Amino acid sequence: MARPTSIHVCSACGHETARWAGRCPGCGEWNTLVEETRAQPSAARSKLGGSDRGARRVEPVTLGAVSAAEQVRLSTGIGELDSVLGGGIVPGSLIVIGGAPGIGKSTLTTMALANLVAAGRRTLYVSAEESAAQIRLRAERLSGGDALAIPVIAETDLHAVLATLEHERPEVCVIDSVQTLHSRELSGAAGSVGQVREVAGEIMRVAKELRIAVLLVGHVTKEGALAGPRVLEHLVDCVLQFEGERERTYRTVRATKNRFGSTNEAGVFEMRDNGLVEVLDASARFVGEATRAPGSVVLCAMEGSRPLLVEVQALVSSSELVPPRRVVSGFDRNRVALVLAVLGRHAGIGLGAADVFVNVVGGMRVDEPGADLAVALAVMSAAKRVALTGSAGRPLACFGELGLTGELRTVAHAERRLAEARKFGLTPVIEPEAHRTIKGAVASALGPQQGTVAKAA
Ligand code: TYD
Ligand code: MG
Repeated sequence: MARPTSIHVCSACGHETARWAGRCPGCGEWNTLVEETRAQPSAARSKLGGSDRGARRVEPVTLGAVSAAEQVRLSTGIGELDSVLGGGIVPGSLIVIGGAPGIGKSTLTTMALANLVAAGRRTLYVSAEESAAQIRLRAERLSGGDALAIPVIAETDLHAVLATLEHERPEVCVIDSVQTLHSRELSGAAGSVGQVREVAGEIMRVAKELRIAVLLVGHVTKEGALAGPRVLEHLVDCVLQFEGERERTYRTVRATKNRFGSTNEAGVFEMRDNGLVEVLDASARFVGEATRAPGSVVLCAMEGSRPLLVEVQALVSSSELVPPRRVVSGFDRNRVALVLAVLGRHAGIGLGAADVFVNVVGGMRVDEPGADLAVALAVMSAAKRVALTGSAGRPLACFGELGLTGELRTVAHAERRLAEARKFGLTPVIEPEAHRTIKGAVASALGPQQGTVAKAA
């Protein structure tokens, strides 16, 4: 029987060494050595081609001969989560849920298990972060499902967890979190690159063997990437990102990778006293709350395959700083810089001496080029101190991408965006089909034919 040994592999050049060093003896890079466990090579390995003598030969089959039965999925009882997963949890799949601390990862996974328990499924909640008593306190708050009936263990030792999985054989298991489990076989601290890789790899091995679906909770770094190695993302079937700001109302869950569904879906949630609640009427809320003051405009955005109306706000004030401030929340900063440059060059709205603040209301994040025009019109409206309104005094809606030469470019799902705006009586919509350039869009947004233009005091 081969005994596992611990070695160190350079993540830059692949050099292997028995002892850890700060600098790779192979390529001279610093801090690239990562600890790994290896089974000792079998004595039967022949020198020729490196293959094991006596190893089993595998017969290939054509794809057409492979049976691909329709997967029965397990519903989490949370519609938004199921749709992001592509219709529920695939048995035996490995799912990572990443998000900043306090965003609601433990809450969401506990709620999912509570519903699965209520539906008669075998589940297990492994907490390597909180005590069983802390998990119970959370469970007591949650409405819906049978949270107090979820079997839990509070354990940080990977091998104890693996042994428990083999014994309990749950259908769905939550590991909270992958960074706090620890393998005795590696010397690195829990959460180190080598540990995370080992923990995820071992859990995957057991989960695939026993067909246990595993939800791995993972922390994200400040930059928003999953902490630990990128390899985690390659290993798992599905990566969900939980986004939003802790202090703000709305949070979104999106799939950035999904082997069993599209990565276009997104779910919107709100954190309440009794857990996360799905927000199905987000557009209605944002339109209802839109201020219609100078600097406000409604963006017809897409959250996955679903249209969503969100309010975009801007504030422009004269600056004493060189360079002036650009404070952006909910958008990509560089994209906003581009929009400001296009506004200056092609619409005659120079903001070189002004501080500009841009925000998506409600803590939403919009990461699509279709938001360019909304940023441009909100900033223009703030700079000119003119409120933009559509028909019947309703907020003005828009969408479209800005090109560097000042043209408005079409974006995906224009029909769905327009339909959503119509649903809330937001007409007309300033968009690329109607206006070819940013200049035309600005004139149209300001023009009397687009409804009343209220001069701000
Ligand atoms: P949590 O799920 O523990 O976040 P994470 O596991 O991502 O770190 O919960 C996040 C916050 O939400 C926590 O500070 C308390 C709050 N909360 C509520 O407001 N309502 C609730 O019903 C629950 C369970 C938590
Ligand atoms: Mg947690």
